[in-house]
Amino acid sequence: MTGITAAITAVGHYLPPDRLTNADLERMVETNDEWIVTRTGIRERRILRDPAKATSYMAAEAARNLLEKRGISASEIDTIIVATVTPDMLFPATACLVQAELGATNAWGFDLSAACSGFLFALSTGARFVESGRSKKVLVIGADKMSTIVDYTDRTTCILFGDGAACVLLEPSDDDNGIIDYIEHIDGNQKDLLCMTGGGSLHPPSHETVDARMHYVYQEGRSVFKYAVTGMADVAADIMERNGLTGDDVRYLVPHQANLRIIDATARRMGIGPEKVMLNIERYGNTTAATIPLCLVDWEHQLRPADNLVLAAFGGGFTWGSVFLRWAYDGSVYGVPEHLAEHIAEPAANS
Ligand code: UT7
Repeated sequence: MTGITAAITAVGHYLPPDRLTNADLERMVETNDEWIVTRTGIRERRILRDPAKATSYMAAEAARNLLEKRGISASEIDTIIVATVTPDMLFPATACLVQAELGATNAWGFDLSAACSGFLFALSTGARFVESGRSKKVLVIGADKMSTIVDYTDRTTCILFGDGAACVLLEPSDDDNGIIDYIEHIDGNQKDLLCMTGGGSLHPPSHETVDARMHYVYQEGRSVFKYAVTGMADVAADIMERNGLTGDDVRYLVPHQANLRIIDATARRMGIGPEKVMLNIERYGNTTAATIPLCLVDWEHQLRPADNLVLAAFGGGFTWGSVFLRWAYDGSVYGVPEHLAEHIAEPAANS
């Protein structure tokens, strides 16, 4: 043990300007706003319409936003981890594309594939590099252009997902704040419940895989829901117990945004009220690897040093986990982010 703790010292984001509302979806598939809102909590999502721009574009824009806020140059970054299930291409890794785009000449890095737990796993991985003393500035990015793998004729999945990217910087902490603990799990036995089977080495692209719609997200929603409710609530409760935390000690739950009902169940299990839950699913839908850092971006201006945050995620694989951290800086210096101006009622209500 080096005694070094990794702390989040900055956040950044990119949200595509175009919106896909529930009303838009009503015109595309047999669905309705009331069903979507009551079953999921989602009202609209952001979509990156430009076909020439992919996940690395959003990831690099999010990173630029972070570097500007932190006031450092790209050459100071030593490690880049990109969590995504929608890489620009199978290889090179999206991390390489982001490195080149930013001019992060002193960085190495890689992509991490853990679906909706991708950011959480990338965060705990990045923390280990800082804790070991080998990395001083780790850029952890969650980015997904889900609209490229969503079947917009399948009403059971197309209402759920959106595009977006957000990131955090990990640096050695100079006090007691930072990432205190993490728990991660995987279980490949349930791989068929949430997957995209086409395009890999098992089912390489062919006319058959396209005809069979194997290049789209497939989900058995009801089954995944049951596992997700238990998995996310259990792992959040585990990390609280292991660190002697009660609901009163927790400032915010930062949950993966897949479904409002899963998030509510996790909060109940943790013994915390809705005022302590970061929730922006109604604005962005499920952006897969970007949901948790997008929450940190939206709530940054309300975060203060030593605020206890419990992050929790569940996703395809299955993958799930939790991180307990003490926030390390005064987020109020950045003020309310511009993109929240029209929604400010919600986050302000949580203060
Ligand atoms: O992020 C990674 C992990 N993923 C998750 O955590 C997602 C977990 N699953 C879920 O969030 C939920 O299962 C969904 C939101 C996907 C679906 O909600 P549900 O309450 O589980 O609905 P359901 O799949 O049981 O479907 C209920 C009914 C069905 O009709 P019948 O069979 O009862 O007649 C569906 O055909 O709702 C129907 N339905 C729809 N109706 C209107 C399914 N999709 C739609 C739709 N609009 N978009």
